Amino acid sequence: SHRITLGPLVAAIDQGTSSTRFLVFNSRTAELLSHHQVEIKQSFPKEGWVEEDPKEILQSVYECMERTCEKLTQLNIDISNIKAIGVTNQRETTLVWDKETGEPLYNAIVWLDLRTQSTVERLINKTPGRNKNHLRHKTGLPISTYFSAVKLRWLMDNVSEVHEAVVSHRAMFGTVDSWLIWCLTGGKSGGVHCTDVTNASRTMLFNIHTMDWDPELCKYDSWGFLFLVFQGFKSGALSGIPISGCLGDQSAALVGQMCFQDGQAKNTYGTGCFLLRNTGSKPVMSDHGLLTTVAYKLGRDKPACYALEGSVAIAGAVVRWLQDNLGIIGSSEELEKLAASVGTSYGCYFVPAFSGLYAPYWEPSARGIICGLTQFTNKSHLAFAALEAVCFQTREILDAMNQDSGIPLTQLQVDGGMTSNRLLMQLQADILCIPVVKPSMPETTALGAAMAAGAAEGVSVWSLNPEDLSEVTSEKFEPQINPEESEFRYARWKKAVEKSKNWET
Ligand code: G3P
Repeated sequence: SHRITLGPLVAAIDQGTSSTRFLVFNSRTAELLSHHQVEIKQSFPKEGWVEEDPKEILQSVYECMERTCEKLTQLNIDISNIKAIGVTNQRETTLVWDKETGEPLYNAIVWLDLRTQSTVERLINKTPGRNKNHLRHKTGLPISTYFSAVKLRWLMDNVSEVHEAVVSHRAMFGTVDSWLIWCLTGGKSGGVHCTDVTNASRTMLFNIHTMDWDPELCKYDSWGFLFLVFQGFKSGALSGIPISGCLGDQSAALVGQMCFQDGQAKNTYGTGCFLLRNTGSKPVMSDHGLLTTVAYKLGRDKPACYALEGSVAIAGAVVRWLQDNLGIIGSSEELEKLAASVGTSYGCYFVPAFSGLYAPYWEPSARGIICGLTQFTNKSHLAFAALEAVCFQTREILDAMNQDSGIPLTQLQVDGGMTSNRLLMQLQADILCIPVVKPSMPETTALGAAMAAGAAEGVSVWSLNPEDLSEVTSEKFEPQINPEESEFRYARWKKAVEKSKNWET
């Protein structure tokens, strides 16, 4: 193997729902040089509630940065070669902290959390015709428990510390990117309070056409305060290296997968599963239950690029559930083995609607359901049904996406933690009836954020020369079952979804 001369390095903080990572790439080759990962605890204080500790999130970032730097030093790589740091994060997760003490005023309310169901109903009841799509023309989003605004409303109404801090102008609100950047740039002694347009587009307070906070949306349920969109500043950690880019994790994956052309798409399998299709400079409104979101805006004077998004709440989270709640597997690798040992669900269907159903249904009252059980069904079949569930949910999104755009995708680019599960990838190709393509470097989310940060500092990662590009290998999974078989199983899945939507009636 030939030695590659190290160019400038670019790094990313990738703060996801289940774990935090810090990663360093060679900007010349996009090669991952070193990284460190720390898991994040989730707490479920009540049914439907999902919280994380903001301080633990911050500590995990520091730990990942430190450990990665140690690893680089061991590799004889000079840390001062890092020219830029990007931030990418789980989106929508909502935090409020005190700008004078620097202390969080409550746990982070995670995007999956369902506590705002009644807040959402109240908001929808206020709209003409009780229409959950009433704000869609401005936000691209249905009114749902998913987005930050309703979580912030809940915090202001239910947490006295938050209420008092709002009244005395000490409250700072933000998604995880804002919290981290504020802390990393000095916190209570002058931290920068900001976010980027992709995260902002998930708050339900941001107008995706004007690219600004919308006074009407902010007033909608009397939001009291706003913050500013950032550009370029210096971080305290890693001795003054600029944090010069920020993208919500799904946008970052789109960038990392180089989906810069109208029509290009990627599907990322994390805690949830998110299929985004680039629609160019036009925000396209979906007729099939997808979201319209800001994909990226790489530079102050560059135009915004939009995407249609199909969001699935539960993907990797179902693996964690089988492990932590049922105890039928000890690790995610075991799930693949267990499912592969039978190679079928034996007619068992598992709809993991733990947080209601997201796209294309937006049905907060749906609940998880396992059906088609017989005396014969065992945990291996259940494991297989769980993997199939991820694939069927993606199929529903892909169908909606194809209907909206009128141009069917001919293959699906994938990334994210679950793509190391080869059985899942094969099942996905079988259920979609199109090839599934996985890049050899799976950390596309972090790469996207590092690319954006590098670009802001004049370090270009994607002007790879064609020779280097030919080294970017990928793996392709071709459909192996006949389409009739696939359609049959998909039709059964749809029936199970109907039951999960109406499980109470
Ligand atoms: O919208 C939530 C999403 O950004 C979380 O992504 O990878 O943590 O499931 P992930």
